[in-house]
Amino acid sequence: MTTLLQLDQNRLENEQETQSGNRTRHPISRSRGKERNGMLMLGEQSQPTLVGENLVLFAGNSNPRLSQAIADYLEIPLGAALVGNFTNGETRVQIDENVRGAEVFVVQPTCGNVNETLMELLIMIDALHRSSAKTITAVIPYYGYARQEKKTAGREPITAKLVANLITVAGADRVITVDLHAAAIQGFFDIPVDNLMSLPILVEYFQRKGFDSSNLVVASPDAGGVNRARLFAERLNAGLAIIFKRRPEPDKAEVIDVVGDVEGKTVIVVDDIISTGRTLIKGVETMLARGATKCYAAATHAIMASEAIDMINASPLEEVVVTDTIPLPSSTQRGKITTLSVASLLGEAIRRNYFHLSVSKLFA
Ligand code: R5P
Repeated sequence: MTTLLQLDQNRLENEQETQSGNRTRHPISRSRGKERNGMLMLGEQSQPTLVGENLVLFAGNSNPRLSQAIADYLEIPLGAALVGNFTNGETRVQIDENVRGAEVFVVQPTCGNVNETLMELLIMIDALHRSSAKTITAVIPYYGYARQEKKTAGREPITAKLVANLITVAGADRVITVDLHAAAIQGFFDIPVDNLMSLPILVEYFQRKGFDSSNLVVASPDAGGVNRARLFAERLNAGLAIIFKRRPEPDKAEVIDVVGDVEGKTVIVVDDIISTGRTLIKGVETMLARGATKCYAAATHAIMASEAIDMINASPLEEVVVTDTIPLPSSTQRGKITTLSVASLLGEAIRRNYFHLSVSKLFA
């Protein structure tokens, strides 16, 4: 049986970057008939394809490789649009095909230059709305500004809510995203949100390593990630450890305590985001200091700010497994970082949304 992970690994090995922004229309791969059968593991034997349907898939500039891979999965071309800048730096969008009455999906993780990519998304939604699209779904593989989802001190903003408001007001009818930093952010929207999980893709990768589960522990690097780590541990039949950390100041991490026995064990530290990498490195140092023999890591969103990649490559970590919700520089292909694609996951969620099929079946 072919799985989401196998489909996307093949694609990552074979694909070439095909878009650098501005006006584009992309060819589609015609070699996916066999791959689509891979999705039969989801238990629906006759799956309608999107070819010839009233659906148009657009992409902003933040993750062209992933956008193209989603289009390839769906066997449709990306919609024609200009997404660039005016000379004064303002974002310029021109939709280059008729979308009147169409069900439109816009792929744009709000990463990289977050303010720029967020504005691109908002302006694309506005343009599509004013072009009389029937529905607009914002496909946001990585939802930026999510980490300010509550006030931790007086006079702070709640940016996760502000961004939800902006996306809704721009004209989105629905959001598809992956591993929101906090599941409660779904409630910041008054439109439906499909918060997909990368967990089955990451877990499957580790299952294939054939670790002895009686000697395996999954660790959460902070209290907020316990649920994610618990689900990971359950699927691998592994033990669970929890690290309690505090942030003395933004982007600094300090370990306060650890629950769980990791002595003599292989540990996988599981998180949603790697940004500066400090939470991860602190967690790994703590695990090794408590007797762990080997440390791996898994995370959905690889922001890899500042020196994170160099720190990871110089660390005692065996391997860090992330997804492509955020594009990584090609230099990461040589170090300790392995990238798995979420293109099939997102493509399948789009297809299921369009045909009003269950999305939660993807995680059953
Ligand atoms: C925090 O709550 C998140 O789950 C991550 O642990 C955090 O964003 C990682 O940040 P950094 O890599 O900068 O320590």
